[in-house]
Amino acid sequence: IKSNFIEKKLAGKKVIVTAGGTKEAIDPVRYIGNRSSGKMGFAMAKVARDLGADVTLITTVDINFNNMNIIKVQTASEMMKQLQEIFQDTDVLIMAAAVADFKPVHVSDQKIKKNNDEDIFNVKLTKNPDILKTIAATKTNQFVVGFAAETQNLLSNAEKKLASKNADVILANNVSQKGAGFGVDTNQITLLEKGHEPVKWDLMSKTDVAKKFWDFYLNK
Ligand code: CTP
Ligand code: CA
Repeated sequence: IKSNFIEKKLAGKKVIVTAGGTKEAIDPVRYIGNRSSGKMGFAMAKVARDLGADVTLITTVDINFNNMNIIKVQTASEMMKQLQEIFQDTDVLIMAAAVADFKPVHVSDQKIKKNNDEDIFNVKLTKNPDILKTIAATKTNQFVVGFAAETQNLLSNAEKKLASKNADVILANNVSQKGAGFGVDTNQITLLEKGHEPVKWDLMSKTDVAKKFWDFYLNK
C-alpha cells in the first residue's frame, strides 16, 4: 500500500457510505432484517475520513464516529430517500448496506398478538426498491461502488451485478466462507471493475480492505 495514507489525499472529496442491515417493520416491535454488522461500511467511512474526505454515513446502526455526518435510517425506503437528497452532490458512493430485498406489504399499527388457534403466521412481503440500481441510474460523474454478497458462483453472480446495477465497481465477497461472512472483522474481496479482469484480494481485516480500496481509487 503506497504512501497515499500519509497525506489527506481525499481532501475536497465528498463520500457517502451506507452501512448495516435495513430493518423493515412488521409491527411496532418487530422487523425483518438480515445479518449485517455494518463493519465493512464503517471501515470504508473511517479510512475515507482519515484521508481527508467529507464523509456522510447513512446507517441503520446506532453508532457515532468523529468528524463524520451520520444519518440514521431504519428501512430501505428511508435510506433511498436520504441518498436521493445528497447523491448529486457527492463524488463517491459506497453501497455497503445490506438492504433487505423484501419488506412486509402491510405494517401493523399495533403489536400483532399471537392467535392461539393458528400455528402458522404468514407475512406477505413485497420487493424493496433496488437502491443501488435506482441511484446509480442518475449518475453524472459520481464513482459508485456496490458489494455483492454471495454464497455460490461468486464471479458470475457478481459480474451480473456489475452489469445490471450501473456500478463502476463491485466488491464481491463469499459470505459463507470462513472469515469473510457477517459480523467478523475480516473479509476476502474480489474486485470487479468494468473493462478489467476480476482481481482477488487476500483475506485481510476490514480496515485493510478499506485501505486497499481507497488506494485503488486514488491510483485510478
Ligand atoms: N442493494 C440495494 N438495494 C437493494 C438490494 C441490494 O442497493 N434492494 C445493493 C447492496 O447494498 C449491494 C448490492 O446492491 O451494494 C448487491 O446486493 P446483493 O444483496 O448482493 O444483491 P441483490 O441485487 O439484492 O441480489 P441477491 O440478493 O438476489 O443476490
Ligand atoms: Ca439482496
